[in-house]
Amino acid sequence: MSDSLRQRVQRDYERFATAGLPSALEQYLLDEYGLDMTAEHAGFRLKNPWGKASGQLSMTARQVEEDVAAGLGFVVLKTVIAQDEQGGQSMSAWAIPEARMVAEPIVGQSGEAGWTITWKGRGWWQPFEDYLQLIRDARRIASGTGTLIIPSCKYHLPSPDEPEWRIAEYDFTTAKLLEAWQASESPMPLEKDFSPTLAGSDRAAAQAKILEWLRFVPKLVRDSAARSGLGEVRIGMKLFNALFDDDFQLEMLNAIHGETDRPDFFIYANRLFDPNREFDGHRGVAYGGPDLSDRNLRVLDRWQQKRTRGVSERSKNRSQDGGLECSPSLTLRVGLPWSATGNITTGRMAVEYLLRGATSFQLHTFFQLPAEHYAMKSGNRTQRALHELYFHPQTGFVVWLHHMAKQKGICDRPIQFLEIARG
Ligand SMILES: Cc1cc2nc3c(=O)[nH]c(=O)nc-3n(C[C@H](O)[C@H](O)[C@H](O)COP(=O)(O)O)c2cc1C
Repeated sequence: MSDSLRQRVQRDYERFATAGLPSALEQYLLDEYGLDMTAEHAGFRLKNPWGKASGQLSMTARQVEEDVAAGLGFVVLKTVIAQDEQGGQSMSAWAIPEARMVAEPIVGQSGEAGWTITWKGRGWWQPFEDYLQLIRDARRIASGTGTLIIPSCKYHLPSPDEPEWRIAEYDFTTAKLLEAWQASESPMPLEKDFSPTLAGSDRAAAQAKILEWLRFVPKLVRDSAARSGLGEVRIGMKLFNALFDDDFQLEMLNAIHGETDRPDFFIYANRLFDPNREFDGHRGVAYGGPDLSDRNLRVLDRWQQKRTRGVSERSKNRSQDGGLECSPSLTLRVGLPWSATGNITTGRMAVEYLLRGATSFQLHTFFQLPAEHYAMKSGNRTQRALHELYFHPQTGFVVWLHHMAKQKGICDRPIQFLEIARG
């Protein structure tokens, strides 16, 4: 990377720390740094790849307003727990109020330092109608700004000894979400949150059940949308880090890449779980930090290798067969589009996910650090985070994207984010 580029980034980092980010940030990145940040999520074009991940920071219209003002590409709203028409919630254990939440330093197994948020809450616990109002408010606030609003839902997932799916919860919730989102005007993107615990189930039964969930849920949600007649849904599966080994993570990825009823996209991958750690008298907490990104990147590497191998073996077989057969493994070639989550606290880490094919990034922890950890002293927390993510002279996205373009021999300008994501 040229010294002049580094100096310009350093200058901008210092300048924007007091003056605030340029209002037309994407245009600035294009003009000054030759970067086209156009990204993609859930089949929608985004002005940039940065998104707020579902959680405590996307529960109110005020929070959405700040994110839209900061220019995020998308905001995923807090996860609502599905219910049927009578208000019955099979996943009601997930609708518990947040008690206390702390941002804590954490050191990964590699010795790398990072951050994790510890708390014991779960999904949306206010009335369902309030969530629908949040969708309506968020859509109004984001209208015409280019920020995409994405609801998130935890639908019923049967346990190993439960044969039935609660279709009434799927039907009622999907229809209400579509209506609030106004899906008659445009398809509604929807994230399906998993993060389950199958306490008490034996390993094989739990694994089989998880794979069944992943195969069935997209069709259940689409069928509900079709029955409602209220519009189309684009369903994304937010994969989680199960309490099993990396091989099982690959099985989960395989499960959503079946031949039929695939989701439209996926998100990889939600936080790790420590069943023994205690917080506020509650045993078992989710955590993030370097171990989360290490695991995610390791699994994504294996997934990529597997897919590449699948394609080359298949093309070999096809040429031996005369190339006429349409084979199942060809489905491996066209992987679903996906969004990255997990310890993205620098532009450099975002580039790691980009290199593995992510077309957008969704962050929670980095939008929640104590104020002294951001160099920018004006603006809201999201703007301060974006300032670090783009312009940090050592770890920022601008310097790392240029570095990577050089490594890959990409000389054309602008450097196109999406072209790199697509390899
Ligand atoms: C306090 C907190 C609450 C969260 N709530 C949800 C949620 O309701 N639904 C969901 O899909 N993910 C939830 N997550 C996971 C985040 O959306 C995100 O995927 C995960 O924390 C990894 O990103 P990060 O390392 O940037 O935090 C939550 C995370 C935190 C820290």
